[in-house]
Amino acid sequence: SDPDLVERARAARAALGSRAFVLGHHYQRDEVIDFADVTGDSFKLAREAAARPAAEFILFCGVHFMAESADILTSDAQQVVLPDLAAGCSMADMAAINQVEDAWEVLQDVGIADVTLPVTYMNSTAAIKAFTGRHGGTICTSSNAEVALRWAFDKLDAAGGSLPSKVLFMPDQHLGRNTALLKLGMSPADCVVFDPRKPNGGLTDAELRDARMILWRGHCSVHGRFSERNVTDIRAAVPGINVLVHPECKNEVVEAADYVGSTEYIIKMLDAAEPGSSWAIGTELNLVRRVARAHPDKQVHYLDSTVCFCSTMNRIDLPHLVWAMESLVAGRTVNRIVVDADDAHWARVALDQMLALPG
Ligand code: 13P
Ligand code: SF4
Repeated sequence: SDPDLVERARAARAALGSRAFVLGHHYQRDEVIDFADVTGDSFKLAREAAARPAAEFILFCGVHFMAESADILTSDAQQVVLPDLAAGCSMADMAAINQVEDAWEVLQDVGIADVTLPVTYMNSTAAIKAFTGRHGGTICTSSNAEVALRWAFDKLDAAGGSLPSKVLFMPDQHLGRNTALLKLGMSPADCVVFDPRKPNGGLTDAELRDARMILWRGHCSVHGRFSERNVTDIRAAVPGINVLVHPECKNEVVEAADYVGSTEYIIKMLDAAEPGSSWAIGTELNLVRRVARAHPDKQVHYLDSTVCFCSTMNRIDLPHLVWAMESLVAGRTVNRIVVDADDAHWARVALDQMLALPG
């Protein structure tokens, strides 16, 4: 990075001192991670934001839904800043609140709404988190999706409906399917994909009634590009290689891999790996490069060399971070993320439910 910019970043960070706390998601650029007080996966960062009541400013180096969650979990007096407002998430954009409300009406018309709970991935708008809270569901991340699903099914089973209990899992169909099949032992026949652009989600009433997992038709454009072929190719090229992927990958990729887990899990796996061992990692490139640099004694490969960065995570760069910090030093809050009070209340109910899950 430009040394002048690094110097300005250091000066602004020092001037803010303990008034500011900088959170950095693992997919952020190195130049940004260098200024993070804490790095983490989306679960850890939500907890870290909630645990900093004394910080006047939370600078969130990540994407919009993460900053919204930080605003919901912090006090009204604390200000959450996203250094570039264009840092969104294409997956979160795949579920709009009006589509979700329409989908719920479909479930009501089919007579299954009272045996269904929403389990919503962190990668969603605050409005959808609020919908989840209003309907008694929970938020989950890739590190607690299994516990969240077990909690939801236990709650529904205890209520004893006459039809099979169901989860409406939004917006990532892959995380929902992977968790149901790999962790809960369900079969593909238990899962249906609800397409919000089609009448009745593109499903028959009978398909909806029989389903256990109603998966929203959403996906991550970065992880969606890994293929089963990538796994076979790297195994052929590097015998004995360990394949480690994020659960946002398609089911055939996760099935073919050796290990699956969140960004934090990926880092911990490499920390614990034997020197000399080989790893192929299927997740965003900034993280894989950093992991490779941290472990020169291990062979770290990218699962597919053509897959690129998460372009929206990459929107946060040093110039934006410097601008945000210097503005705060000058007494101007820029790019503040504020969730409206009613949504914030109900989204908090759903986020608190997640934070209260066991484990
Ligand atoms: P993690 O919760 O594993 O950090 O994942 C967040 C994300 O956006 C993955 O694409
Ligand atoms: Fe969203 Fe995928 Fe980027 Fe994660 S990697 S922020 S899910 S687009």
